[in-house]
Amino acid sequence: MARNATNRLLQKARKSKKDEFYTQLIDIERELKYYKEHFRGKVVYCNTDDPIHSNFYKYFAFNFKELGLKKLIASCYKEQKFDLFNQGGLGKGYYYEYTGSKRENPVPDLSDVVYFEGDGDFRSRESVELLKKSDVVVTNPPFSLFREYIAQLINYDKKFLLIANINALTYKEIFKLIKENKLWLGINFGRGISGFIVPEHYELYGTEARIDKAGNRIVSPNSALWLTNLDNFKRHEDIVLTKRYYGNEQNYPKYDNFDAINVDRTKDIPLDYEGYMGVPITFLHKFNPQQFEIVRFRKGNDGKDLSINGKYTYFRVIIKRKKIGTI
Ligand SMILES: C[S@@+](CC[C@H](N)C(=O)[O-])C[C@H]1O[C@@H](n2cnc3c(N)ncnc32)[C@H](O)[C@@H]1O
Repeated sequence: MARNATNRLLQKARKSKKDEFYTQLIDIERELKYYKEHFRGKVVYCNTDDPIHSNFYKYFAFNFKELGLKKLIASCYKEQKFDLFNQGGLGKGYYYEYTGSKRENPVPDLSDVVYFEGDGDFRSRESVELLKKSDVVVTNPPFSLFREYIAQLINYDKKFLLIANINALTYKEIFKLIKENKLWLGINFGRGISGFIVPEHYELYGTEARIDKAGNRIVSPNSALWLTNLDNFKRHEDIVLTKRYYGNEQNYPKYDNFDAINVDRTKDIPLDYEGYMGVPITFLHKFNPQQFEIVRFRKGNDGKDLSINGKYTYFRVIIKRKKIGTI
């Protein structure tokens, strides 16, 4: 094989490996318990999930009756079969549809699944056909394709609950959806998601790694979160505010390039300030659209990052109060 082709294949392998983070059942249960009412009579599709192994599939299959599901579909992308000798040729993908039949074990094996003609890419015609038949998509999709992944769900007007990385909040396409109240954060965030199972060959640097009782290698990146367009209770809870701006103006400097005060921690948002305020991106985890409005992201009037006395701040979200609390 020509050296260039080999390099390309290696790069591709590296890229795909980065996406192999498997979600643990405990983390799925910890989030899904807040959304039970959204699943009654619904078709759930896990479209980056091998029905034989995925814990998303297992969660819905084992709770099928309790949730009152109509159908569960999971589809597997076969890129894992990639190796240097088959020239990067992708194996076929496959899927499995479960309707709650009385099998002893609802988890299929290879003799039960239906093979796609193609590789099972979530963007493929075959996978999109399954998406169209579904109501809610729940999974941890490949992070390297996250923008496209969300765009497809929005395009087909689907409900969803997904695991993502905090960096996704800084993508302008995602932020726009958050600002328009078409997408919001779930309940668990950062350490609230205990970790992901990674394959043997995974390089572990910069992240905590441990081996669980079953011998799985778990990394806990502390930067994962849930993104959804299913309503949840947290979205209706006001952030309790105790600080005041008037009398403490020195704690809230104004930006050089936008008429807003800077607030370093969400809990320091003053209860008596009616103008624009710049808050850290983690504010989005507490955001209640009845309490605040999101105005803009990161940039000042000059199109540059928000700055104070010439120094740039780390990503800030500009917000404004919708209602003024008791003063
Ligand atoms: C972060 S992992 C999570 C796996 C599984 N959803 C889970 O939560 O355990 C993302 C998965 O997406 C698969 N994948 C990568 N590219 C894909 C594509 N284009 N279409 C569908 N799945 C893809 C990967 O093989 C990988 O298993």
